[in-house]
Amino acid sequence: MQTNLVLIGMPGSGKTKLSYALSERLGLLAVDTDIMVEVAAGKPIPQIFAEDGEQAFRDLEAEAVRQAASLAGAVIATGGGVVLRPENMEALRETGIVFFRDRSLSAIAGEDHSGRPLVGDNPERLKTLYAQRAPLYRKYAHHIVAHTDTLEEAAQIIADIYQEECQP
Ligand code: S3P
Repeated sequence: MQTNLVLIGMPGSGKTKLSYALSERLGLLAVDTDIMVEVAAGKPIPQIFAEDGEQAFRDLEAEAVRQAASLAGAVIATGGGVVLRPENMEALRETGIVFFRDRSLSAIAGEDHSGRPLVGDNPERLKTLYAQRAPLYRKYAHHIVAHTDTLEEAAQIIADIYQEECQP
């Protein structure tokens, strides 16, 4: 089975854009667990949080992760909180190589977070989330792509590692 390429990291670290760039470079299908959740729920993420709560979102996310991890040779963009449930990361690591894009908080803060209920219009929340989650991102990543604020640079580094390890 062809190995998946999994992207983890903070909200606004560019996982979705990066997944499209990598999909094009490597000729792999791109999927996004946030979109899978929205399709399953039939509504956008802010509405899921508002009407059903975070736990309901996390349950849908766990199911999306299970389905994404069962693919072969896909680029999988994940939500920033995917690392909160160990079973998510066990499933993703079993069939994929996991990259943590450790983009700088100042670059992340410059992104639009209006569709992110846990960040919203309070950029201070990013610092708290980063402090809580950075150890988890590091723990579950096979590779950490640090200090790469440009998309092109990050895509190049990740594509090179993936090709070397998984498409020799
Ligand atoms: C979340 C991040 C979001 C989305 C949801 C929860 C989080 O994904 O899954 O709003 O807990 O950090 P992105 O990282 O793609 O913004």
